[in-house]
This record gives sequence, structure tokens and C-alpha cells, in this order.
Amino acid sequence: MALKNNNNTKWRSIFLPSCFKIKSTHNLDSKSSHRIISKQISSTSRISLSDISDPGSSDFSNSWFASNLHIFTLKELKVITNDFSSSNLLGEGGFGPVHKGFVDDKCRPGLKAQPVAVKMLDLDGDQGHREWLTEVVFLGQLRHPHLVKLIGYCCEDEHRVLVYEYMARGNLENHLFRRYTSPLPWLTRIKIALGAAKGLAFLHGEEKPVIYRDFKTSNILLDSDFTSKVSDFGLAKDGPEGDDTHVSTRIMGTHGYAAPEYVMTGHLTTMNDVYSFGVVLLELLTGKRAFDKSRPAREQLLVEWAKPYLKDYHKLDRLMDPRLEGQYSIEGAKKVVALARQCLSHYPKSRPNMSHVVKILEPVMEFTDIPLGSFVYTTPTMGKIETKSCGEEENENQENGNSQRRKGYRHKHKIRPRAVYSDTALYKTIRNGIKSPRW
Ligand SMILES: Nc1ncnc2c1ncn2[C@@H]1O[C@H](COP(=O)(O)OP(=O)(O)O)[C@@H](O)[C@H]1O
Ligand SMILES: [Mg+2]
Repeated sequence: MALKNNNNTKWRSIFLPSCFKIKSTHNLDSKSSHRIISKQISSTSRISLSDISDPGSSDFSNSWFASNLHIFTLKELKVITNDFSSSNLLGEGGFGPVHKGFVDDKCRPGLKAQPVAVKMLDLDGDQGHREWLTEVVFLGQLRHPHLVKLIGYCCEDEHRVLVYEYMARGNLENHLFRRYTSPLPWLTRIKIALGAAKGLAFLHGEEKPVIYRDFKTSNILLDSDFTSKVSDFGLAKDGPEGDDTHVSTRIMGTHGYAAPEYVMTGHLTTMNDVYSFGVVLLELLTGKRAFDKSRPAREQLLVEWAKPYLKDYHKLDRLMDPRLEGQYSIEGAKKVVALARQCLSHYPKSRPNMSHVVKILEPVMEFTDIPLGSFVYTTPTMGKIETKSCGEEENENQENGNSQRRKGYRHKHKIRPRAVYSDTALYKTIRNGIKSPRW
């Protein structure tokens, strides 16, 4: 790897586990598989997959990687996940099953006690060492509040495992589309879109841009307070360098999300991610899946179905998710619709870049023209039924046990009995910085 020797250059210690070899030759102690070496590297430079020689090798001598990852043994992971118990299963994609586990400093000195998600390669599946290595190389080096944190990995015989921070509310796909889940309120949807946009903007804004390539609802994970993080870097790619305008690749991704020019040519640019982001925005607006075989043939692709509605604000109510029950900011929704239309432009150059997307979404969090059908719940008190507006129970005199309502207490009719989270509650969370419990 060519290393620049400019003012940014500094000496950095790099922890070397097994499983990796870097092309440039360093004076390594071949007896040790876990070594600290010093490598001259720019403080901003990131190692690319292409810097690793023979990435498919299982010869683990002379291998190396980033300092902030823990290396687990398979035996340890069995303990962590209670032997990969089915009761701990969090989800499963093309790579393999993901189980919940728990780590602490008994497992590794200095390791924070925390729940984790353990993703294990399915040895009979389509993915393998390459996707695993891609995740380790990118997520091992990239750190951002809107990217899921990789804590460590395991590479033993043919087994490949990734250990991430645990995201308490799982993926966005389940929240948006699974039956019997409470509908996500408008501001929660915007918060999720904004977080994911910041994650992508960070990737695209790197000195060596990263193209994520698989942006979709099942790869957006949600923390307990609905902070969204981009996860699953198995298909990520380094962006074009120098005068190159694109990277040529095999066409990979998910039907319904991939940009048309990428599907046609295999030419990959950051604008392909912007298109996929536009599809996810549409899913958040409409509550409809990017691709759905159960819809009539011409409407199976959400982008095709939505086209007439995106052009005409008079049809806004037909575009918007009926589960929102009209409780969204009309002005905010118009802005998001216009943004989605831009992101989905047929011409990549007409799409906004992700930092622009962030700038457009940020103020949408502040639009207050949301018809607040207050979140009402019912509490049985002393044999009688009482209805309360969200938050107003704080007004009650708790010291003397007086259950009388204070002056100004509004008695509301039940409007949205199904809702569990409300935008009112979300506003409170944002403004007071209160976090709901992780568990
Ligand atoms: N860190 C995590 N916390 C909670 N759930 C997770 C986490 N990582 C993955 N999952 C669950 O597992 C599913 C599959 O994970 P993903 O990384 O997308 O795997 P794949 O590469 O197979 O698509 C996710 O959609 C999510 O439901
Ligand atoms: Mg995935």
C-alpha cells in the first residue's frame, strides 16, 4: 500500500490478530499471531480490502488488523450466547443467524459489560469469508454514532463470526411491516431517516469514500430510543479514487432498492446509495415494502407505484401510510416527498448528496403542524375507569394521594388506542434528553 508521508502522517500501534495479511511487508514476529506492530500510516488513512493480499487465504501468519476489536474463540461465543440458544435468536439474513449474548470483563479484561449480537456464518449459505472480511475491515475502522459498532470477531477453522453492540429494537423492517406492531409515529420515522442519513453521509464523506451498497430497512437497526444505525457491511465497497467516476462491480444488492443505472451497468457510485435511501424514505412515508409480489404486477415495485403521487401534492393523503391516521406534519411530509423524489431521480447527478439530505431532514423534526390526536390511555382507579392524556398524570397530586385532576386537565376521547409510542412522547424524549430503558 502506498503511504503518504505528509504532515498528517504519524506512527500508530496496530494490533494484529490472525486471519489477515497486508500487502506491504513489515518485520513481523511470525511466531506470534496476536502482535503489536508499528506501521507508518496517515492518521486519516483507512485500510481497504484491496490492501489485504490474498484475502481468501486461511494462512494466518503475518496477518493483522485494527486495534479496537476483540478476538473471541468459538468456545467463548457459545458461553456468551448460551450455546446459540434458539431463544436468543434475533434475526437471520443471507450471512447466517444472529443471536443475542452478553459480555463483560470476565470474558476480556477491559470489556464493558453489555449485551451483544453475535452473527455466525451459515456454512451452507451463499455468503462466506469475503463478506465477513469486508465487515471486519470496514466496521473495524469506521466509528460513528449512526453506524453499528463492531466489538469483535471470531475466525476459527471454517467458522466466521461477528460480534456487534446489541440494538434493543432490532431492525426497521419489522417495525414498519410486521403485523401486530404499533405503527411508528411520524416524528419517529423522521428521526430514523435522519440518523441513517447521517450514517451514510459519514461513509460518503470519508477521505476514501465508502459505498454501502445494501441500504434497506432490514439493515437499519434501532436502539432503545429509536436512534438508527446502519449495519451489515458485507457488501460495502471503497468508492472511486483519483479521476475515476465509478467502481465497476458485480451487480449485488436487493431488488427494489438498487439504483437503475447500477443494475444496468454495474457502475457503482455513492449516488446508488442515495437512490436506495430514497426507496427507504418512500417505505417510511407509505408503510409499503420496496418490492411486494402480492401487489398487482405494475405496482410491485414501490417506486413505480408511488410515481404519480410523488408528482402531485394533492394526492399526498393517498401516498401516506394509512396507519399514521393523518397524524403527520403536512409541510414536513411535502418536504420529505420532494426529497424522496430527488433521491429517486433517474439521473444520478440530479440526486442530492447525503449531507444535503441531512440538511433537508433536520428541520422536518421541528415542524409542529401535526394534528395531535393526543395519546390517550385508560387507567383503572378505585373501581372506576379514568382516561388520561399522555404526560398529564405528572400534574396529579401524588403526595397526598389525591386522585382529583388539577385545574386545566383535559378529558380526551380515546383516539388511537393501538398506539404505544406517540410523537408527544418522542418530543419529550428529544427535548429532555430522557432515554427509555434499554431492556
Ligand atoms: N446488532 C444487532 N442488534 C440487534 N439485532 C441485530 C443486530 N445485528 C443484526 N440483527 C438482526 O439480525 C438481522 C440480520 O442481520 P444482518 O447483519 O443484516 O445479517 P445479513 O448480513 O445476514 O443480512 C437484522 O435484520 C436484525 O434483525
Ligand atoms: Mg442484512
